Amino acid sequence: MSEHTITTNDMADPAARTALVATLDATPGASKPDPILVVDHIVRQFGGMTAVDVGHLEVQRGIITALIGPNGAGKTTFFNLITGFDKPTSAKQGAHWSFDGRKLDKTSASSVAQAGMVRTFQLTKALSRMTVIENMMLGAQNQAGENLFKSMFHGVWRAQEREIEAKADELLARFKLLEKKHDYAGSLSGGQRKLLEMARALMSDPKMIMLDEPMAGVNPALTQSLLGHIQTLRDEGMTVLFVEHDMHVVRHISDWVAVMAEGRLVAEGAADTVMSNPAVIDAYLGAHHDTDLGDDALLTDEALEEIEAEVAAEEAERQAEEEAEGLR
Ligand SMILES: Nc1ncnc2c1ncn2[C@@H]1O[C@H](COP(=O)(O)OP(=O)(O)OP(=O)(O)O)[C@@H](O)[C@H]1O
Ligand SMILES: [Mg+2]
Repeated sequence: MSEHTITTNDMADPAARTALVATLDATPGASKPDPILVVDHIVRQFGGMTAVDVGHLEVQRGIITALIGPNGAGKTTFFNLITGFDKPTSAKQGAHWSFDGRKLDKTSASSVAQAGMVRTFQLTKALSRMTVIENMMLGAQNQAGENLFKSMFHGVWRAQEREIEAKADELLARFKLLEKKHDYAGSLSGGQRKLLEMARALMSDPKMIMLDEPMAGVNPALTQSLLGHIQTLRDEGMTVLFVEHDMHVVRHISDWVAVMAEGRLVAEGAADTVMSNPAVIDAYLGAHHDTDLGDDALLTDEALEEIEAEVAAEEAERQAEEEAEGLR
């Protein structure tokens, strides 16, 4: 790394992020100054249909990258592939990917998590029948894996368990779920489940968290809090890669956007400019002929209109404060 490289810790500072993003090349598949994830030649076919065909992709460390694209573009399949939950068809034909300098092809899902790349999942029925704290402990077990198992036989289990529970409590408190600690996960609201998924993922202290549509099914009251939590993770030095359909959310929190269509990476760019890229307009128009991309036509969720209003209100408040200070 050169001495001019902006470090991950700087990424809590909006000016440093803006400066970094200004240096990034918006060519799809372009290299990044400090990539945490590097993907080469990942192809996944289902029968004769190519769901994913990504030649090269780099994800910059320390910022929030959104992965967008029309329905069926291959976003979820791509997540499955790089986290070891699915195998590329190109496995023996040049598919390679590495995370934080560590090769991940031919690696199991649990090893991927141990390497520091963790994704969230929808809670399954089985997990719904477990309590919130049990879900959290499971998150820890997944990552500690063998070590935790071994320690049970070495008599340090109890001490470790207490330590892990303390960590779970801290995370639950942070996500305002501590009161629900002993409730069944199935009794939580959609938004609270999303928070639990995120809290559970954090039990393994990941370097990068991958969220597939984190806002889907979340009521407006919790949306802002979820967005805030995602930004806080970035500000604490974590890399975030998330899939999202709502352009308000994408513009609101992402530093960089990668666009997929028909399995391929078709565009990259800063959130405020990428949607005017002709390749992106083509991708969306190809999928939804009736979609008018002019401005906010992709908005589907009224909840996010409220966010924009809130942001505008905050901005107005801040300006009023500045003016008041100026008058003093
Ligand atoms: N297990 C599977 N078997 C067959 N086809 C599949 C399978 N999983 C995904 N596909 C197909 O692969 C393509 C990509 O699907 P994928 O779910 O990755 O898209 P996506 O970008 O996540 O879409 P969405 O935004 O709707 O979630 C789709 O055409 C889908 O039907
Ligand atoms: Mg999907």
